[in-house]
Amino acid sequence: MTLSVPRLELALTPTPILKLARLSRELGVELWVKRDDLTGLLESGNKIRKLEFLLGEASREGADTLITCGTLQSNCCRTVAAVAARLGLRAVLALKGGPPPSCDGNLLLGRLLGAEIHYCDDDAWAKMGDTLEALAARVRARGGRPFVIPESGATVEGALGYVACGEEIAQQIRHGAPDFDTIAITAFSGGSHAGLLMAGQLFGLRANVVSVPIAWEAARVREYITGVIERAASRYGLPVAPPERIDLLDGYQGVGRADVRPEELATVVDVARREGIILDPVYTAKAFGALLDVLRRDPGRLGRRVCFIHTGGIFSVFPFRSELAALLDGSAGNRLVEL
Ligand SMILES: Cc1ncc(COP(=O)(O)O)c(C=O)c1O
Repeated sequence: MTLSVPRLELALTPTPILKLARLSRELGVELWVKRDDLTGLLESGNKIRKLEFLLGEASREGADTLITCGTLQSNCCRTVAAVAARLGLRAVLALKGGPPPSCDGNLLLGRLLGAEIHYCDDDAWAKMGDTLEALAARVRARGGRPFVIPESGATVEGALGYVACGEEIAQQIRHGAPDFDTIAITAFSGGSHAGLLMAGQLFGLRANVVSVPIAWEAARVREYITGVIERAASRYGLPVAPPERIDLLDGYQGVGRADVRPEELATVVDVARREGIILDPVYTAKAFGALLDVLRRDPGRLGRRVCFIHTGGIFSVFPFRSELAALLDGSAGNRLVEL
């Protein structure tokens, strides 16, 4: 079944599925990773899959300027900047906070890619709907055609990106990848989780899908997932419905996206050394750390074969260079925990 929804092909797919041999041996569970951090353009991660459908809509509307918002180190904002530069569009980014003392990581890349940056104080951030509308009005006033993308690409079209990812996994399983019991993914809005659940219903993906909320409380993630599936069914006539149970590994939000804790940085270092994979401190390290915690406590909880979707974010390692260096040098007073 091919989704008959406007789409621009932007991602390098299919992304590989690799076994994490040493962690699997240690945990007594087959642990695999789908390398969605390698979706291309700029190691764009999950956002580029979402943007394939969002840009399909934008180009149908004849937009010439993409407007979105996020934190200073937002992966989504950087990916929007990269896609805009690639397609000859303009990007306008509304970022939370003031200009930082040094321009680093995703913010540096966004600026290199030519995005117009607007720093938002607390008030402008709290009224983000108005802020985005004001930016869109400015674009219109100078003769442009804006297309607004909510934070994290959290729309029905964004979730369709992970319907396509789920279809891809189903195909990879047909071609010899393991028939996973569980697929685990990081959740901010839960849009990617919602997409995978829809793919399960549309393409016969058997795996249970679980996600790890890294900022929002579980009830809000569940509500978003339910709503987006209902909207996908009504807007595109897809034969999908919210499942009775939405499985989250809850309680790992820590301090949300406000800061990163030493244990998350330790997970970045440990997984890099053990498996040669770089997680990002804000999203994927938190989620992968949660997965390891659950598997260590109860190895059977997620079945025998578990696949973690690595949704990207490598560039946000760099703004944490001094914290990571302190950890590597042993001067932070934290241990590098043996996984
Ligand atoms: C690296 C990474 N993983 C996962 C997510 C979460 O995506 P979603 O909003 O679809 O839950 C994000 C986006 O915020 C992200 O940047």
